Amino acid sequence: MPEPDNTFAAANGLLHRRVFLKTGVAAVGLLTAQVAAGTRDPWMKEPGAALGESGAPSDHESHVVRTGIGSQPGTTGSGASRTPLEFLDGIVTPSRLHFERHHSGIPDIDPARHRLVIHGLVDRPLSFDVESLDRYPRASRIQFLECSGNSGSATAPVAAADATCSSIHGLVSGSEWGGVPLAVLLDEAGVKPKASWVVAGGADAAMMSRSIPLAKIMDDAIVALYQNGERLRPANGYPMRLFLPGWEGNASVKWLRSLTVTDQPAMTKDETSKYSDLMHDGKAKLFTFPMGVKSVITSPSPGLAMAGSGVYQISGIAWSGAGSVRRVEVSADGGNTWAESALDAHVLPKSLTRFRSAWRWDGKPAVIMSRAIDETGAVQPTRVAALAGLANFYHHNGMQAWQVGADGGVTNVYV
Ligand code: CO
Repeated sequence: MPEPDNTFAAANGLLHRRVFLKTGVAAVGLLTAQVAAGTRDPWMKEPGAALGESGAPSDHESHVVRTGIGSQPGTTGSGASRTPLEFLDGIVTPSRLHFERHHSGIPDIDPARHRLVIHGLVDRPLSFDVESLDRYPRASRIQFLECSGNSGSATAPVAAADATCSSIHGLVSGSEWGGVPLAVLLDEAGVKPKASWVVAGGADAAMMSRSIPLAKIMDDAIVALYQNGERLRPANGYPMRLFLPGWEGNASVKWLRSLTVTDQPAMTKDETSKYSDLMHDGKAKLFTFPMGVKSVITSPSPGLAMAGSGVYQISGIAWSGAGSVRRVEVSADGGNTWAESALDAHVLPKSLTRFRSAWRWDGKPAVIMSRAIDETGAVQPTRVAALAGLANFYHHNGMQAWQVGADGGVTNVYV
């Protein structure tokens, strides 16, 4: 199916984004004949499995699980697990595959006993349980959550040869988060004029705590109760968590137990011993909350081998803590030329956005990469530009390049 020359939008086979919508697959003849002849596959010859109370993925998808599960030495719950981005599509991560980052395991919380206390510089200290929060106005939004350490391994001096999309970038997920706007609860408590910060504390054994500027709390923060239409799962803060759209994940304190309104940050262990950004001059940036504009190609990527030359779909996710993704561009020649990608219909603020490009691969080695531009005009930096200045691995949002080999294999590469 040859395209006219003007459908090529960038060098090395990248097609105009309108081609993506027209590209079909021709090898359907045999299947059509079988269906026409009334042939039945084995699973069509007897009734299928019984109804069930709770669903599970196909046994044929058992490889689609969280990856990179690692904990601090001597612990089982102080670490992280990663979303298998390379096997997923769309912008919502199945709840069972949402990444995890815990500082002292997952507490087993009885919702009948759990309370959220709002106190400090307020006129009326308040206490809420799940049942009382259920009576308040509800906000629900599809938004991303990203660990500030996501993509940190891409700051290493040498590109890890065995890295995958999820091993580098799997500490980001997307969900529909539903809960009560915190502005409603703080208005009820009555914030005193000199208040400027809120210290959020969790009910885990580490009492994970972060200081949050009051302005963010009043802007778009929620106490999340639901994720993807069901009650939060324990690994994501059951029965209630703080959710701060677009900000580094650890600040969205899980198992939320207390909100202390103050006039200064508390300098908790979780914002001084970690989650502060060391610079080359020995100083550190504190309270670096928003996640930068970013994208990554999830397919093709390592582990998803390509089966010879032809037209392929390049697909991935883009996001920005500053708002909506305006544009994503893809390169198939290591960043020399770029073509605009098609964006899926759901382009939402502080959400994952799915992009797709059509690529006519000639079967020769190629380097593919993506870059996102957000609604503020911020452009995702090259890896080298993103690393300038920072001496740590937090908040890395440089471009990810994948090397496609002549054999169809895909590997991590720096350009
Ligand atoms: Co930070």
